[in-house]
Amino acid sequence: MNILILNGPNLNLLGRREPGVYGSRSFEDYLIEQRNRYPAIQIDYFQSNHEGALIDKLHEVGFAIDGIILNAGAYTHTSIALHDAIRAITAPVIEVHISNVHQREEFRHHSCISAACKGVICGFGLDSYRLAIEALMQMDNEK
Ligand code: DQA
Repeated sequence: MNILILNGPNLNLLGRREPGVYGSRSFEDYLIEQRNRYPAIQIDYFQSNHEGALIDKLHEVGFAIDGIILNAGAYTHTSIALHDAIRAITAPVIEVHISNVHQREEFRHHSCISAACKGVICGFGLDSYRLAIEALMQMDNEK
C-alpha cells in the first residue's frame, strides 16, 4: 500500500508555529514514527506553501496511489481549485486538521474541500494523521 501525506501552507513550521495550537513536535519527527509504526505501508510526504504545487502533486499521484491524506492548511477555507483537483483524481482523499477548526475562528468553520473528500478528521493533534492512515488501511482491506 502506498499513500501520500500532503501538507499545505505554514505546516512546514510545525513545532515552532503557535505550539499552543499545533504542538511542539516537528512533522519530520512525527513522520519517522509513523513510518516505523506502519512498515508495510509506503508513506510519501510532500509539503508546499503554494496552492498550484499542491494541485500539481494531486494530479501527479492521484491516479496511481492508494490514498492521500491532505491537510490543506488555510487553503481549506478558500480553494475551489483544490476542491476541483480532488474531484478530478481517482485516489480517495482524507481531509485532516490538527486543531478542531470548529472550535476556532468562524472563518475556519467552512471547508471548500470537505465535499470532495472521502472523509474528514480534525481536532486530534498530530494523531489526526494516524487516524487517517488507519481509515485508508481499512478502506484498502475492504477493496
Ligand atoms: C489547520 C487548520 C487551518 O485552519 C489552518 O489554516 C492551518 C492548519 C490544522 O491542521 O488545524 O494552517 O489545517
